[in-house]
Amino acid sequence: MSLIVDNFGRTVEYLRLSVTDRCDFRCVYCMSEDPCFLGKDHVLSLEELAWIGQAFTELGVKKIRLTGGEPLVRTDCDQLVKLLGKLPGLKELSMTTNGSRLSRFAQSMHDSGLDRLNISLDTLKPDLFTSLTRNGKVDRVIAGIDAARAAGFKKIKINAVILRGQNDDEVLDLIEFCRERELDIAFIEEMPLGVIDERKRSRHCSSDEIKTIIRQRYELTISDRRTGGPSRYYTLPNSSIHVGFISPHSNNFCHECNRVRVTVEGQLLLCLGNENAVDLKSIVREYPGDIGKLKTAILDGIKHKPKEHHFDTNGETQILRFMNATGG
Ligand code: GTP
Ligand code: 5AD
Ligand code: SF4
Repeated sequence: MSLIVDNFGRTVEYLRLSVTDRCDFRCVYCMSEDPCFLGKDHVLSLEELAWIGQAFTELGVKKIRLTGGEPLVRTDCDQLVKLLGKLPGLKELSMTTNGSRLSRFAQSMHDSGLDRLNISLDTLKPDLFTSLTRNGKVDRVIAGIDAARAAGFKKIKINAVILRGQNDDEVLDLIEFCRERELDIAFIEEMPLGVIDERKRSRHCSSDEIKTIIRQRYELTISDRRTGGPSRYYTLPNSSIHVGFISPHSNNFCHECNRVRVTVEGQLLLCLGNENAVDLKSIVREYPGDIGKLKTAILDGIKHKPKEHHFDTNGETQILRFMNATGG
């Protein structure tokens, strides 16, 4: 049982550990067109990231998900996977990736011990893909997904952020893509991070609207599948895949939140929708390898985890950090 318990009785067993704020894409809902990335000195080394992972697992964290930016921009990520994979008590080591580099790295990630992959894919249309990512090529991502399957990854999940007027007409096509390849899929409501303007407000598409589109073709049956993340899953007739919905607006999941984030700058973020942070970098830099000091800071910090997030599409409560800086 995890010792990391917050003031509302929630137990933290899931760490989202960001390994870089950099990315080869510039998704419109994630970062600005011309982002400013951290300098080398601010970024934790693989060893420092592994110490943080060790402190969390010694306190009872069972699941670590590597996030970014795009984690595979850090080309020695396999070394971190090997270091974390050795931690006693860790039950699942996974990664969320944009898929662009999986053709090159899927096999080494699998062989280094990564258990699961979530891969972002919002559209199958080449031009729209390039416009949503501001420079990505959908063919490379699809090749990456197929490389991950060939490498032996079993429970791959596709993440699709649905935006009204952009890719909401592709919900059923994305499901067909996943059915053909036996991949799970999660449809995600956009979270209003960064600067909120009228354009962002009007493209919001709720999980209920997406379910209505799916029900035009399929019956959705609620499933008891849980992955430890915020997704709520359904099954389709005559298919083994699960279809999930991540609904930070329409279905608040905060009361059962089991997770925290650590940014690549070593900031422990207690909630995605809140600026509270605990500085772990100064501890790993001042006391390298002192896991006890990190554990004390984590246990003190968890007391500041807020009860819930307040995303506000009217822009009254804005979180100014971009997603690539928080690890999604
Ligand atoms: P699994 O359940 O292990 O498959 O992963 P996951 O859904 O937790 O992780 P993934 O990286 O695939 O995240 C999918 C989406 O869920 C992303 O848009 C995340 O930002 C979002 N998400 C994950 N955790 C939280 C959370 O605590 N709060 C909010 N608002 N969104 C979250
Ligand atoms: N709202 C919802 N999901 C987002 N992601 C990135 N930015 C946002 C946002 N503003 C998703 C990515 C990826 C995951 C890590 O987070 O598409 O699947
Ligand atoms: Fe990169 Fe993922 Fe952000 Fe897109 S959502 S810019 S792929 S970190």
